[in-house]
Amino acid sequence: MSARKSPRKNTANTVSPARIAAPNPTSSSPDGEFERAGQAADFILSRTSVRPRIALVLGSGLGAFADEFASATKIPYAKIPRFPQSTAIGHAGQLVIGKVGTIPVVGMQGRVHLYEGYSSKEVAFPIRVFARMGVKAVILTNAAGGIKREFVQGRLVVISDHINLQGVNPLIGPNDERFGLRFHDMTSAYDRRFREMTVAEGNRMGIGMHEGVYAGLLGPSYETPAEIRYLQAIGADLVGMSTVPEVIAARHSGIRVLGISCVTNAAAGILDRPLNHLEVLELARRFVPLRGKSLAAATSRTLPTASPFAPSASPFSKPSAKASAGSTLFPSSLTPMPSRLPAALAAN
Ligand code: HPA
Repeated sequence: MSARKSPRKNTANTVSPARIAAPNPTSSSPDGEFERAGQAADFILSRTSVRPRIALVLGSGLGAFADEFASATKIPYAKIPRFPQSTAIGHAGQLVIGKVGTIPVVGMQGRVHLYEGYSSKEVAFPIRVFARMGVKAVILTNAAGGIKREFVQGRLVVISDHINLQGVNPLIGPNDERFGLRFHDMTSAYDRRFREMTVAEGNRMGIGMHEGVYAGLLGPSYETPAEIRYLQAIGADLVGMSTVPEVIAARHSGIRVLGISCVTNAAAGILDRPLNHLEVLELARRFVPLRGKSLAAATSRTLPTASPFAPSASPFSKPSAKASAGSTLFPSSLTPMPSRLPAALAAN
């Protein structure tokens, strides 16, 4: 699929009237986000014959998982047109396109954050690129502070919803209807089916998988104990500095989302000790391979056969003939992901 294909030709039966409305002229200029994402997508797809339908965002200390992809093509972010460069410690800053078992995937070894000085749009740009590549589902992982008492260090938590306290939104500015609606619905931002399957599978495996609400803050300073008490009062179970812009852009682009937090520390004031980023990183490194193996097995059994991966009504990416042949994204003959492969599904 060419990422530059006309969006309308591909989607005559699936695109809602709102989506085919004339795009805002300022957002559809040759240098608009849609076009820039298309250029990056074309560049990436020109380097590999793999056509990923799932993206994984692997952050601090967790990128190593993508080193295990088979038939991997690695592309440093610096080489990809318009791609933002990660400056955070523990972020390799490259894209890895390959296979987990027989499943084509694209993994981000590191992400960029608002606290690095990037805009919300820039943070979400890789998701726009994935959308233009034909990606249908994204697994967003992060490191988070546990606000809820039982969310202790090392626990994996499936994100059920988020509270955006970052003060920004990647959809600010002219809306490009080729991506999605001006006022995009966020009622089920975190795919219910993915959540249920991941929790069920995690519990079946005895790793005590829970769900929680993620509060996205700007950072880079950690929260004060008073802020954590405030977050607790408004219904947050976890706190972190990432993920929210990517989720908003993914949903706006018709991509389904699974969000998983690895609790690297009790949030400020929950325990009587200060927070230290190097410790957080170290914990991510130590815990994630342990927990990630379990999670890998959980996701390997659930995601490839999940009907939510059925091609969505994304207006600009045509599913491959193979993918659209069945009711799921992956033909049932595909073997599930080997459990050793998604060995790190949680990072900031
Ligand atoms: N707060 C914010 N972000 C985080 C934390 C935290 O306690 N831990 C890991 N990322």
